[in-house]
Amino acid sequence: MSSTVVTGIGELVTCDGTTPDGLGLRHGAAVVVEDDRIVWVGSSSEAPAADRAVDVEGRAVLPGFVDSHAHLVFAGDRGDEFAARMAGTPYDGGGIGVSVAATRDASDDELRSLVAGRVAEMRAQGTTTVEIKSGYGLTVQDEARALRIAREFTPETTFLGAHVVPREYAGDRAAYLELVTGPMLEAAAPHARWVDVFCEPHSAHAFTEDEALAVLVAGRHAGLELRVHGNQLGHGPGVRLAVELGAASVDHCTYLSDADVEALAGAADTTVATLLPGVEFSTRSPYPDAAALLRAGVSIALATDCNPGTCYSSSMPFVIALAVREMGLTPGQAVLAATVGSAKSLRRTDIGRIEVGARADLTVLDAPSHVHLSYRAGVPIARALDL
Ligand code: NIG
Ligand code: FE
Repeated sequence: MSSTVVTGIGELVTCDGTTPDGLGLRHGAAVVVEDDRIVWVGSSSEAPAADRAVDVEGRAVLPGFVDSHAHLVFAGDRGDEFAARMAGTPYDGGGIGVSVAATRDASDDELRSLVAGRVAEMRAQGTTTVEIKSGYGLTVQDEARALRIAREFTPETTFLGAHVVPREYAGDRAAYLELVTGPMLEAAAPHARWVDVFCEPHSAHAFTEDEALAVLVAGRHAGLELRVHGNQLGHGPGVRLAVELGAASVDHCTYLSDADVEALAGAADTTVATLLPGVEFSTRSPYPDAAALLRAGVSIALATDCNPGTCYSSSMPFVIALAVREMGLTPGQAVLAATVGSAKSLRRTDIGRIEVGARADLTVLDAPSHVHLSYRAGVPIARALDL
């Protein structure tokens, strides 16, 4: 067992809910960690002795960011699709097939090293927990392989065989649905905690409400917990379905009706609305009003959605800055959504906050306060603290 005391913290952002704004800010604080857990939080002058001391010299310390939505297991490049989109071609999910072909062609080692690179990139920007989805394999073997590799990096793995109907099943959606809810699910389930579905009537490649329901019910039956991609390209049934089924999270929420907001507010203890502003940025879509969601009583999370199509950014600080500039959140509300909010969407209480018993996942800023995350947008001030 080895212990470390972190001192010289200019601003400690605990996100522990002990102040009315939820941020639980402390000044002159110290944190003691023992192995992978926080064992003491208090005033620096009262800090107990530890094996080592790390002085962060006045910097702000926050809980490590929780990136609760990412698609990291993919090969190939879709820079051309992004350039075409910026020139006016709308996103419809069709490019997913390009990533599927490249991913199927990649070896296990190639995929593993691509995922490792992306996870390292995230950590270097302050992310200490990441959820990783499959969804670029879309065969029994390739989906199981993606999840096996993802599990090497995180316990938060999500089976997304229902990402799109792959080209070889374009003429027979029902057969693909049978595969996803049958043999593919069976092969994927041992490596997955969650099941997800791209429920999107506005994309011919994605899944309808009835199809999404079938995927989620089968996934739950196989012991998986539920997440939903919903309301990304237009108004639709995703949010309602997620709430009705008690999913932990419904992600995107770009197009929300009043009824959707009401349903999410009523389900705030169960279902989190995960906002992915990097997607609105990379697809030139309208940003949802996150401040209005908070006022309505909705639980919100922020995540990157890092993927080769709609947002190839691994940066939680970028997402936080967008949420402040474009979605109406205060800098503090954005930090809460990126930590304790996204932890809630993963049904985790041991991450996303700095308190005794939580994981020792700390992020340090080359700045005196959390406000600088959005104030100094684009400047690499955040990194996970290696203890
Ligand atoms: O979260 N919506 C579906 N899936 C991804 C995009 C995948 C892709 O285009 O490669 C998303 O936006
Ligand atoms: Fe996604």
